[in-house]
Amino acid sequence: MLAVQVPAYTRVLVAGGRGGIATPTVLGVGGIGVVEAVGDDVHTVRPGEVVMTGGFLTSGRVAEPEEVLLGWTGIGGRGRSTATTDAMRRTWRTGTFAERALMPASTLLALPGAEHHPDPARLAFLPWLTIAAGAVERSGLGPGDRVVVSGATGQLGGATVLLALARGAGRVVAYGRSTASLERLAALDQRVLTVPATGDRATDAAALTRALDGDADVVVDALGPAPTSDLTMAAYDVLRTDATMVLVGGVRQDLSIPYGDLMHRRLTLRGSWMASNETAYATWRQVEAGLVDLDALAVTTVGLDDPDDALARAEAVRGLEIVTLVP
Ligand SMILES: NC(=O)c1ccc[n+]([C@@H]2O[C@H](COP(=O)([O-])OP(=O)(O)OC[C@H]3O[C@@H](n4cnc5c(N)ncnc54)[C@H](OP(=O)(O)O)[C@@H]3O)[C@@H](O)[C@H]2O)c1
Repeated sequence: MLAVQVPAYTRVLVAGGRGGIATPTVLGVGGIGVVEAVGDDVHTVRPGEVVMTGGFLTSGRVAEPEEVLLGWTGIGGRGRSTATTDAMRRTWRTGTFAERALMPASTLLALPGAEHHPDPARLAFLPWLTIAAGAVERSGLGPGDRVVVSGATGQLGGATVLLALARGAGRVVAYGRSTASLERLAALDQRVLTVPATGDRATDAAALTRALDGDADVVVDALGPAPTSDLTMAAYDVLRTDATMVLVGGVRQDLSIPYGDLMHRRLTLRGSWMASNETAYATWRQVEAGLVDLDALAVTTVGLDDPDDALARAEAVRGLEIVTLVP
């Protein structure tokens, strides 16, 4: 492994706050590495190549796909473990917080040209960018669109802002609590406007409408586990007729959506979990072309010697500040 992002909420996960994981295990989801060796039937990546893993393993069964994250919690579909997901997670226990990882070939993506990238510690954000890119793709965001990113102050939200700008959004309204994160986002581009979250649905919806100067064509919700659905619903309230809202965050609340409202406004509400290797490749191309500028990130690097310190540092950063493990 060359470099692996340590997500801000890793300590919560380690403490058991995000569901079960087959143990013993090596934690760590996603990352950038160099291939040392491949199995005889592996042709997706070659020894010596710089590759990304998103840690996203699918059973490959088209009729009933079953999906898990490696080195992390997270089961796709209805989120319930099955004999198949248990077997997948029992077999593959080597996450990426390590010097070396053993990975199923299907989770690896060759990044042609990445061997020339000057800073693998920044490139370690590629898996999170890819998840955000999956949400932006599913939103159908077009050039000139007005977008709200809820939870823009988080790492996934920050990644979503970068992807929306790269895709030509006309206006990106970054909505979240942390004022320091919002300031960093505002400095990215004149198209970014910020709305600090108060948590009051009506107040926040009014502020979003002012920042948008109207309604939103697209909302991407990348919030973490907020205690109510009010932040999510404030952004829902500013969708224009025919707009799309994509949920990619980790909110554990139910949403109360009036049937008649969704129907009359012809809204599309979509979920987005992880992303394909094709999306990851397209994201890498945007990074390589400079459309997504990784210089926007403030990166702290940590090693393997003090895991507790690494978790503390990861927990302390926000949004476009990231902690990267360079083992
Ligand atoms: N769908 C997928 O494929 C996928 C993949 C990876 C992760 N996720 C989920 O996405 C979520 C966000 O990930 P991340 O890496 O961006 O996490 P993160 O960096 O910890 O960001 C969390 C975001 O949620 C906000 N937030 C957290 N608690 C809140 C509260 N009580 N009230 C209001 N806002 C709150 C934070 O606001 P402030 O910083 O402004 O306080 C921040 O914007 C996670 O919960 C994760 O489970 C989903």
